[in-house]
Formats: sequence, C-alpha cells, structure tokens
Amino acid sequence: MKHVVLRAVLQAPPTAADFVVCAAPVPACPAGGVLAQVLFLSLDPYVGARLRGRHMGEPPPSPNVEPIPGAVVGRVLESDAVGIAPGDFVHSMMGAWGEVVAIGPGMARRIDPELAPLSAYLGVLGMPGLTAWAGATKLAKVGSGDVALVNAAAGAVGGSVGQIARLKGAERVIGIAGGPEKCGLVVDRYGLDACVDYKASDWPSGLDAALGGRGVSVHFENVSAAMLAAGMSRLSPYGRVVLCGLADHYQAETGSAQIPIGLIIVKRAQVHGLVVYDFYDQWDAFLREAAPWVRDGRLRIAEDVATGLDNAPAHFEKLMQGRNVGKSIVVVNAE
Ligand SMILES: NC(=O)c1ccc[n+]([C@@H]2O[C@H](COP(=O)([O-])OP(=O)(O)OC[C@H]3O[C@@H](n4cnc5c(N)ncnc54)[C@H](OP(=O)(O)O)[C@@H]3O)[C@@H](O)[C@H]2O)c1
Repeated sequence: MKHVVLRAVLQAPPTAADFVVCAAPVPACPAGGVLAQVLFLSLDPYVGARLRGRHMGEPPPSPNVEPIPGAVVGRVLESDAVGIAPGDFVHSMMGAWGEVVAIGPGMARRIDPELAPLSAYLGVLGMPGLTAWAGATKLAKVGSGDVALVNAAAGAVGGSVGQIARLKGAERVIGIAGGPEKCGLVVDRYGLDACVDYKASDWPSGLDAALGGRGVSVHFENVSAAMLAAGMSRLSPYGRVVLCGLADHYQAETGSAQIPIGLIIVKRAQVHGLVVYDFYDQWDAFLREAAPWVRDGRLRIAEDVATGLDNAPAHFEKLMQGRNVGKSIVVVNAE
C-alpha cells in the first residue's frame, strides 16, 4: 500500500513538493481498534498548521517516517473494536494520508451510508459541519431575527454556518468569499442572501450595501484579524462573535493576529473562541439534527475533489493557497 510523508522538516508554507508518496507495509489492526481501507481523505487547514507545529501543541509528523495525519472515511478490513465489524463504514479524525490506516481504540465511528453520501461525513456531517453547528447554535445561538455574517463562506465550515443560520431562522445571512465563483456558490447553491467578493475593489462598500443599513448580530470569523475587525465594526450592540479560524495567519512569519480591542467595548460584543474538540461528545446530537437537513436537501454539499492518493499533495497545496471551492476531499479508493 501507499502512504504520504513529509520530505523534510518544513521551514515555509507547505507545497506539493514537500510531500513524498511512497510504499509502506500494511499496518496491523491495533488492539481494540480497526484496520480500514481509506475511501475518502479529508484535507483541512489545521493540517497545514500542524505540519509546522502550530496547531494546539500537536507535533508535526516525523519526515519520511510518519504519514500525514488526516480525517478519513473508510471500509473496515479487520476489527478488534466492539460494535464494529469488517465491511462496516467508519469515520475517524485519527486517520492518515494512506491507502490503509490503523485506527486506535475509540477513534472510529461507524457511519450509515444510507443516510448521506459517504464523503459527506468529512464535510457537512464531519468535523467542519460539527464546527459550524457548534459555533452557530451552541455559542452564537443564532435564531430568528439575526443578521449573520460569515467569511470563507464557500468553504466547508463557512458554507455550513451560513446554511445553518438560515435553517435556524436568521433574517438575513451574508457571506464573504474570494472571487465570483465562490460567491456564486454561496448564493446559488447555499442560498445565502448575498455574498461579498473581498477580492473586488471597495468590498467594504459592497458589504454595507448587502447589510442595507442593518447591524450584524452574529459574526462568524474563519479568516483573519482584518476581516474580524471589518465584521465587528458593523456589529449591533451585544452582537455575538465566534472566532473559529484565522486561515490567513496560519503560515504567516510575522507577529500574532490583532484587532482593535476597543471594538469589544464599543459594541458590547460577546466573543466566543471555538475549539471543535470541546463538542466531539455532541457528535450524535449534531448528526440527529443535521443528517435530515442533508437528506432533504436543506443543507447542501459542495466538494472540491481530487482522485487518487498521488494527487493529495497538489490538492493540499490548492487548499493552502485558498483556491479550493467547497470541502477539499481526495477520493483514495472508489467503491
Ligand atoms: N476552531 C475550530 O475548532 C475549527 C475547526 C475546523 C475549522 N476551523 C477553521 O475554520 C476555517 C475554515 O476551515 P474550512 O475547513 O472550512 O476551510 P475552507 O474554508 O474550505 O478553506 C479555507 C478558506 O480560507 C480562505 N482563506 C483566506 N485567506 C487564506 C489564506 N491566506 N490561505 C488559505 N486560505 C485562506 C479561503 O477562502 P476565501 O477565498 O473565500 O477567503 C479558503 O478557501 C479555517 O480557518 C479553519 O482553520 C476551525
């Protein structure tokens, strides 16, 4: 089987040339765990930060030894886990960029292929979807009458945030995204009221026009301190802010991200930091609510797909450069 490793310790933002696809022995099934054939591999921004030792204190994989970590959906080949049998489909956050992965005890969840397409368990029904659901419903408590603003709105998290805000009764939901293709997706497929292209000139005026004089009551930040300041400066009094991600800062070499903190006072803002790990114990509750939305077409999916593990490095470079349109996924083995 093949897996993907780093060529050397990274000194700069990851590019495709930093990875090597190589032959590796099939791992053994761990005690209490499962051995799974990987069908779909998730590519996520946190992995880019992790590869440089910049994610939640988690170490980067050893070059030429450890495969790149990543979430996977797979078919079980062998199982020593209670309640999981060979042939079952599983999702795990503790997978890797490999054709076959060993998943430790308690790290694989059985998933239902009848409920949604299997790849959805990496996106709208996976960690990004859980992140969006937790931030929107548990932290910001978005609901009727809200005016919600989200950036990276075409992406895995942002796309779900916008749609969940709408499903929860927000009065107006506005996305911000980079370029006309992404903005088209946000409005035409996700059904948001408007999407502002921040790569167009004078996008702040476009944002004001989209708001139509209304204040933002929920701002969901995925990108940067500058975007956060732009959203917070348009916040209604006591508006809620979810600080979920800072994609534009993960590979930066200088200083930490900063906003004018006086905005928090002026706007009486409630700012929530979000770490999805805190909501892993609510995954079943999330699926109970979100899976019917996906089945009925009320929570729509958009994927940016590459086929074959050999293409994972180039597809990851695309994600690192923000060129993905929708959830970034690699089809490793087509069923
Ligand atoms: N807090 C948590 O627990 C948690 C969990 C999951 C994800 N997140 C965060 O949520 C955010 C969205 O994640 P996602 O998985 O849904 O990814 P994504 O939105 O599919 O991809 C990242 C997007 O960020 C935007 N971006 C802006 N500046 C960028 C830059 N310099 N480099 C790369 N991308 C840039 C791009 O969209 P535009 O072109 O539209 O700007 C890009 O497509 C990320 O910041 C991620 O780290 C946080």
